[in-house]
Amino acid sequence: MSEPFIRLTNVGKVYQTKTGPTEACSDINLDIQKSEFVAIVGPSGCGKTTILKMVAGLAPYTAGTITVGGKRVDRPQTDVGIVFQEAIMLDWRDVLENVMLQIDIRHMDRATYEPVARGLLKATGLEGFEKKKPYELSGGMRQRVSICRALVHGPTMLLMDEPFGALDALTREQISMDIQRVWMESRKTALHITHSIPEAVLLADRVVVMGPRPGRIVEIIDIDLPRPRRLDRLPERFHEYSTRIRNIFKSNGVLAMD
Ligand SMILES: Nc1ncnc2c1ncn2[C@@H]1O[C@H](COP(=O)(O)OP(=O)(O)OP(=O)(O)O)[C@@H](O)[C@H]1O
Ligand SMILES: [Mg+2]
Repeated sequence: MSEPFIRLTNVGKVYQTKTGPTEACSDINLDIQKSEFVAIVGPSGCGKTTILKMVAGLAPYTAGTITVGGKRVDRPQTDVGIVFQEAIMLDWRDVLENVMLQIDIRHMDRATYEPVARGLLKATGLEGFEKKKPYELSGGMRQRVSICRALVHGPTMLLMDEPFGALDALTREQISMDIQRVWMESRKTALHITHSIPEAVLLADRVVVMGPRPGRIVEIIDIDLPRPRRLDRLPERFHEYSTRIRNIFKSNGVLAMD
């Protein structure tokens, strides 16, 4: 195995609040290889968003070390694309221009990246919508635009924080397939946070299962399934992985025993 691209060593985070300290997560040890797709599943409040923000350099850690590309993370990372739970868009910019926002903010060359933006919009089923304004789009389409914007500048690392959280089940499935396709073409190092066990198993090379707050890693499961994975042809092993993760949650009291 080569040196991991993202490495978390004994990472912990305590938020200081007016009412006292809150321990969000502790003892997080995780190595992510370049081009690997890792999903994190865990109960609400176990520190998933906190971990993603710490990897992105948007929140300081209070214990341990995080390195990306061998360098200690101590400031906001630039070589990264982030997709948040809610699609954040500028209403006065059309779809293409919302994707190009990433290029404008970074003062990168528009002529070079406009074809890239158009290609990503095509790959996520948005060809023909380039000139639409955000309010003319569905929630799923808006989230697709966010994914394109997170990728257009060619970052080495893609961080996604429940990007489908606000979407209906069918749209979630469709966008999962889009993410899989785009990821298979680009092989970005991806960290994907989700509440959904099947979504994690569908997308990831490895699934990190966390316990309740203060979040710790309970288990890391290798998902040995060929790609592309198809929702209409899920092998028996897919269901075995999902059941295994569900059972871990049950034994940690996260899911009620039935
Ligand atoms: N800025 C903050 N200040 C104080 N406490 C915070 C802050 N952000 C998060 N927390 C606390 O840290 C804990 C973990 O929060 P975090 O948002 O990382 O959880 P999560 O796993 O992403 O949850 P969810 O699945 O609901 O999004 C929670 O108890 C939360 O109240
Ligand atoms: Mg969260």
